[in-house]
Amino acid sequence: DNRFKIAPSILSADFARLGAEVEDVIKAGADWIHFDVMDNHYVPNLTFGPMVCKAIRPWTKAPIDVHLMVEPVDSLIEPFAKAGADYITFHPEASRHVDRTLSLIRENGCKAGLVLNPATSLDWLTYEMDKIDMVLLMSVNPGFGGQSFIPETLHKLQECRWILDQYEKKTGKKILLEVDGGVKIDNIAEIAAAGAEVFVAGSAVFSGKNYEGYKKIINNFRKE
Ligand code: DX5
Ligand code: ZN
Repeated sequence: DNRFKIAPSILSADFARLGAEVEDVIKAGADWIHFDVMDNHYVPNLTFGPMVCKAIRPWTKAPIDVHLMVEPVDSLIEPFAKAGADYITFHPEASRHVDRTLSLIRENGCKAGLVLNPATSLDWLTYEMDKIDMVLLMSVNPGFGGQSFIPETLHKLQECRWILDQYEKKTGKKILLEVDGGVKIDNIAEIAAAGAEVFVAGSAVFSGKNYEGYKKIINNFRKE
C-alpha cells in the first residue's frame, strides 16, 4: 500500500559510512530517511546536526525527515532547511512558542510536525492543526534506539487517527500520522491497524547489516 511509508532511522546505521547506508536503505525499498537529532540537553544522548544532514543529502532523493530532540528548537530550523530537510518535527514542550516554531519551519520551505512523547497529551494539536503536516507519536521515550514499544501507544494512535480523520472530513486537509520507537516485524501490523501511516524503524531495519538484509526486512514489513 502506497499510503504506508517506511522511514529507517539512521541512528542505528554505520556512522562511518553514512552516505552509502542511506543509499542502500532507500534502494532496499525504504521511502524516507528518519534523521534523529539529539542534543544531550533535551534528551540524554548526542548525535548529529545540519552538517551531517547536508553531507547525506546528495546520496538520495528520498525525503529527509528531521526529528529534533533539542532545546531550544528555533535556531536549528533554518540550518536544517538549508541542509536539505524535507520534514522538520519537534517536541512542543521544548519550544517556548510552538505556533511560532511551526510557522518558522514552513517559512523555511519545509513540512512541519509536532512530536508527542508517550506521556504528552494530544491536546497540543488542538489549535495548531492548520499549521501541521504530520504528527509523530513516540512509542518509546526519546533518546535511544533499540527500546521496546510501549503498548499504551496503540490506544493513543487510534485516538489520534480519529482526530486527524475528523479534521480531514471537515477541511479536506490530510495530516500524516507517524510512529517512532520499537517498531518491529511482530508489531507493525498492529500499529498500522491502529492508524499509523509512516513507520520509523531503526534497530529493526539496520539489524539487516547490508543491502540484502535491509531489503528482506523492509519487504517483510510491507507484507505484514
Ligand atoms: C528515539 C528515536 C527513534 C529511534 C528508533 O529517540 O527518535 O527514531 O531511533 O529506534 P528503534 O526503531 O530502534 O526503536
Ligand atoms: Zn526519531
